[in-house]
Amino acid sequence: MGNKIYIFDTTLRDGEQVPGCQLNTKEKIIVAKALEELGVDVIEAGFPISSPGDFNSVVEISKAVSNPIICALTRAVEKDIDAAVAALEYAKRKRIHTGIGSSDSHIQHKFRSTREKVLETGVAAVKYARKFVDDVEFFCEDAGRADIVFLAQMVEAVIAAGATVVNIPDTTGYMLPWQYGERIKYLVDNVKNIDKAIISCHNHNDLGLATSNAMAGVVNGARQIECTINGIGERAGNTALEEIAMIIKSHPSLGLETGINTKKLVPISHLVSTMMNMPVQANKAIVGRNAFAHSSGIHQDGFLKNRETYEIMDPVDVGADASSILLSARSGRAALNHRLANVGYMLNKEQLDIAYEAFLNMADKLKQVNDDDLHVLMKEVSIEKAKA
Ligand code: KIV
Ligand code: ZN
Repeated sequence: MGNKIYIFDTTLRDGEQVPGCQLNTKEKIIVAKALEELGVDVIEAGFPISSPGDFNSVVEISKAVSNPIICALTRAVEKDIDAAVAALEYAKRKRIHTGIGSSDSHIQHKFRSTREKVLETGVAAVKYARKFVDDVEFFCEDAGRADIVFLAQMVEAVIAAGATVVNIPDTTGYMLPWQYGERIKYLVDNVKNIDKAIISCHNHNDLGLATSNAMAGVVNGARQIECTINGIGERAGNTALEEIAMIIKSHPSLGLETGINTKKLVPISHLVSTMMNMPVQANKAIVGRNAFAHSSGIHQDGFLKNRETYEIMDPVDVGADASSILLSARSGRAALNHRLANVGYMLNKEQLDIAYEAFLNMADKLKQVNDDDLHVLMKEVSIEKAKA
């Protein structure tokens, strides 16, 4: 088993399903090209049978993008697969992603069927898709809640039918990391043809565990992670691509690697957020506006003495501008002095003591003190800028 973790981006499929996040074909091409530049291995471009617009987007993305595999989603239904085959006509490297429910809940309530019939349908879909493409991924929907013995049977049967990738989705985001990891390990240990396929992790974030679960999956033998920019996706979203890329980069002891150019993470986060009209929470790991901002006095003092006291990543590595020192009533003298120096005021100890007292009064009234406020503060305490 190699060390490379394949990054399967589903921003344009699972991410785009989110109400209000729909993009037109032109916008999707812009995002797809940015994903190519970022270095993803697979772009899930859409669900061609779902609408003429989605079909057309898969066609145009296939023409516009060269390096990543272009993937189209289908149900385990021939007419869906036909639509995917047609939409992928121009893709240089193509994949069909088909599948069916694997948990008893899906089998009984969604399909009103039996395990045997669902298995048969899945196998038939893989065989049908393999008539048109060499690369077929099979998703065992709701695998997180499926009976593990049945799940292993399904995985073995679809690999025997020609699946090259087996996707084990925790569709409802219910699993705990060690449970998801054990599930992957069980498949590695019990599916006799598992070496003929790549295991893929597709984790939803309903309990905030999507990234942890995907990491538990790869530590136990999975080699593909399905993720989205900013973690967008159904309900609480999917595994965030930027988190996976930086976890793997920040922990060399894992012995894993991705092909992601991490310097492009913040720019693509902004692009997707703006295009989809989906703001990123300020404290979002890696790409949130506060991800490299320091606000308490103790942290600021340590950071100013040595960045690594409070930062495990360099903002430059993720394409962020720089770390920032925010000024609030919780800030200390070191932070105030630093920010004043940035705007041209060099204070001695006595001046800093006076300025700091005035600053605390100001900061208690304002939530955050910005550069303009600092000039007002210096006027108030009659301190002038250092001469150039
Ligand atoms: O969450 C899920 O199970 C999915 C499948 C269609 C792969 O998105
Ligand atoms: Zn999903």
